[in-house]
Amino acid sequence: MRGLAEKVVVITGAAGAIGTAAVTRFIEEGARVVAVDFDAQGLEGLAGRHPGIEAAFQLDVTVPEAVARVFDEIAEHCGRIDVLINNAGINARFPFEEIPFESWRRVMDTNLDGAFLVAQAASRHMLAGAGGSIVHTASTNGLVGYRNHALYSTGKGALVELTRCMALDLSPTIRVNAVAPGYIRTPLMTAGDEQAASIPLGRFGRPDEVAGLFAFLSSDDASYITGQTYVIDGGETTGGLLSGF
Ligand code: NAI
Repeated sequence: MRGLAEKVVVITGAAGAIGTAAVTRFIEEGARVVAVDFDAQGLEGLAGRHPGIEAAFQLDVTVPEAVARVFDEIAEHCGRIDVLINNAGINARFPFEEIPFESWRRVMDTNLDGAFLVAQAASRHMLAGAGGSIVHTASTNGLVGYRNHALYSTGKGALVELTRCMALDLSPTIRVNAVAPGYIRTPLMTAGDEQAASIPLGRFGRPDEVAGLFAFLSSDDASYITGQTYVIDGGETTGGLLSGF
């Protein structure tokens, strides 16, 4: 990808499956990668496996003061922030009528409020500097309905709208896009292997495939793209399961 070398790229949820793949990919692209996660042990392991990481910060994205402080520290440590991969997230699965309110609050707190806090903190630094690119990790769950996913899907759907509105407010200085992965084989994804057969490409996705889309959207190859959500799902949401009439 063009224009990623030497860029300061901050990745949240970096210790997780998709985050780790993103760390690997951006280091390959020559970027200066900052890993952020609330899993201290995971971050330690990540830094051990990726000596090319510039810095790692433990952060719970749901704590406003901590988010502001850590992004100030990152900007000071690296001199600027060029790219944010806003990727920390948790899953939850309940029939609608059984969703406990505590679970609703916990998932929204992480997947929506946390994403907002991180994006706002990063964008303030980007606006004060040379601008940059933000990529949110949404989900196909934010674009089509799935049974037992009202909670997770509502948060991810809100991220799709946040992407559009942020793109308008932050143009032309910051480009803002989202990726919407379908079934990606990670610990967060609970679907059984039989489900893979219903995906047109016949398999679940891999974290490195999502990381490739992060890299593209963050790079100069995507310099005229903002406000968009890119589906990466092996064709799952194309509607091809119905034979038509
Ligand atoms: P994962 O569970 O491997 O990674 C998530 C990471 O986020 C973990 O390292 C976790 O410690 C971190 N995290 C969670 N809450 C946090 C908080 N409050 N503060 C800081 N870090 C926190 O899951 P995976 O699959 O890598 O997910 C990454 C993103 O991709 C998530 O936003 C998820 O919703 C999204 N996604 C995943 C799909 C899949 O099929 N695996 C499909 C669509 C979207």
